[in-house]
Amino acid sequence: MSEESTDLDSSLRENRVFPPPPEFAAKAHVKSLEQYEAMYRHSVDHPEEFWAEAAHELEWFTPWTRVMDGEGAHAKWFVGGKLNLSHNCVDRHALGDRKDKVALLWEGEPGEVRKLTFGELHEQVQRFANVLKSLGIRRGDRVAIYMGMAPELAIALLACARIGAVHSVIFGGFAAHAISDRVNDSGCVAIITQDTSYRRGSEVQLKAIVDEALEKCSTVKHVVVFRRSGSAVKMQPGRDLWWHEEMEKASAECAAEWMDSEDPLYLLYTSGTTGKPKGLLHTTGGYAVQTCLTSKYIFDLRDDDVYWCTADIGWVTGHSYVVYGPLQNGATVMMYEGAPNWPECDRFWKIIDDHKVTVFYTAPTAIRAFTKWGNEWVKKHSLDSLRLLGTVGEPINPESWMWYHRMIGKERCPIVDTYWQTETGAIMIAPVPGAVATKPGSATRPFFGIIPEVVTKEGKPVPDGHGGLLVVRKPWPSMARTIYGDQARYEVAYWSEVPGSYFTGDGARRDADGYFWLMGRVDDVINVSGHRLGTMEVESALVAHPKVAEAAAVGRPHEMKGQAIAVFVTLEGGHEPSEELRQELRQWVAKEIGALARPDDLTFTQALPKTRSGKIMRRLLRELATTGEVKGDTTTLEDFTVIAKLREGDE
Ligand code: WT7
Repeated sequence: MSEESTDLDSSLRENRVFPPPPEFAAKAHVKSLEQYEAMYRHSVDHPEEFWAEAAHELEWFTPWTRVMDGEGAHAKWFVGGKLNLSHNCVDRHALGDRKDKVALLWEGEPGEVRKLTFGELHEQVQRFANVLKSLGIRRGDRVAIYMGMAPELAIALLACARIGAVHSVIFGGFAAHAISDRVNDSGCVAIITQDTSYRRGSEVQLKAIVDEALEKCSTVKHVVVFRRSGSAVKMQPGRDLWWHEEMEKASAECAAEWMDSEDPLYLLYTSGTTGKPKGLLHTTGGYAVQTCLTSKYIFDLRDDDVYWCTADIGWVTGHSYVVYGPLQNGATVMMYEGAPNWPECDRFWKIIDDHKVTVFYTAPTAIRAFTKWGNEWVKKHSLDSLRLLGTVGEPINPESWMWYHRMIGKERCPIVDTYWQTETGAIMIAPVPGAVATKPGSATRPFFGIIPEVVTKEGKPVPDGHGGLLVVRKPWPSMARTIYGDQARYEVAYWSEVPGSYFTGDGARRDADGYFWLMGRVDDVINVSGHRLGTMEVESALVAHPKVAEAAAVGRPHEMKGQAIAVFVTLEGGHEPSEELRQELRQWVAKEIGALARPDDLTFTQALPKTRSGKIMRRLLRELATTGEVKGDTTTLEDFTVIAKLREGDE
């Protein structure tokens, strides 16, 4: 196989194997395949013993009485146990021997650096917890957070966790409409934001977007504004407060609430197959244990690591692997505010050298961008400090994997391709790097305690080497417990598709060595640059436009983003297609949802292909968007002339 090939299907022909480098394995937590396999066996044969032992690495105020209870959608973990995750991330280290160790190492996009030790973080988190309390926020209340990547964002999460408030972080790239939807769905009582945030040299008006969103939210009583840039913002008296002013007034001591293991920790919204994002609810004990354990073993964390996960805290990766997982392990966490190509395309490599980053975790879409920007940017830096690399968010094509391995890892750093989801809370399939050999494009083998399987729609195992649906056989500690306010939807979406198992929504195959190869979503979810978008969400946004009658959205392969969004639109009577309207509609979607949802292609058509029962045939549209023609089965199509008209082109 040619390594220069950019064929995305090349993972099917991939047969290279990279054993753990001996010098890495010698110092790793898990040092050999035999050790991994023995631990894995034990973890699935005796899950209660295994997870109890893992949970003992945390501090509990009250021990659990049962490690697990209940089946499938109703599983509970560490029942009866009481703990606080903020305590486990911060106090345990601040009051132990890591008081003066750097917890957060932050670099702003304009270049300033801040370092917070565990001792300092402890004080800040307690103060902010008291600020929240002074606003009347109590255990169980929902608090929205809409910020950029500042240390204060991590502090806000940890302060909520400390008092038992349920945080709901909304990615700073989402539009006002997306904020009000999320805030209203869970009835948030407060929102924490900042004046503006920096992105590629310009300022994102976070506070102004919150103001717009709050016009449609009646539950929010308080807005706390962190001053990042000092740019002028409107403050509404009686509602808006400055972070720094409240912090000054607050006491620096705030005891952590004793949370029940199954008490809610946070909500995080993600796209599904309907137009309405789902608020996945994560709880405390199981989530804490699995994020802690996966961080320890998959990132092989040691006390002298400088660990950098480039994800924004607005996504689950940031929750689990910027904040909760690494901090529970007492790691020094690098955080960077801005864009990877600001001021130039080597910003990440410069950060790695400047701060001696040892573990670097990023996304395939970023790696594809680095590849495109060229090797010169990498070669200006030594990258000597690195010892382990990771990826997450979508399947990585073997060519990008090889580039990462050679250019960034200098063939010395193992790569952990980590497969998981917002719903799973923590990593599910990934190599334990000192033990499991890697294959470019494969997430390799399951994490301890996880039993993934490739099955048919009826739940029958598919033979190795063949594609099928990826399911997980038994519940695991960090799984989401419900969709906020919609338990029925939770059970239908995840626990009924394949009887008796959790259904991931992904296609996969397992090879003869037991390695998993992810093949992308099998439902109406598009993965754009590692971020999930529902086709229905984009369609709902489009039909909300007065000139649009009907819309269909599909994903098509895209060299950089993984998938691009292609939409087909029919117009209300009296409106004619035009280039101007095309741009207006693309912009409309960006304004409704956020820039990452802006359609790449927009085709005007006179009708959409539908089945006799009226369902849009997205399969045909996907084929059309990808190849420009339709060869697939059209026997159920209601009106055959539609395809001909679509193919004729845009207008
Ligand atoms: C979907 C979950 C939790 C990570 C960030 C995305 C895809 C994620 C991989 C991987 C192949 C992957 C799946 C999954 N995905 N990681 N290593 N290899 N595919 O979280 O937004 O909840 O999306 O991302 O399709 O279902 P998310």
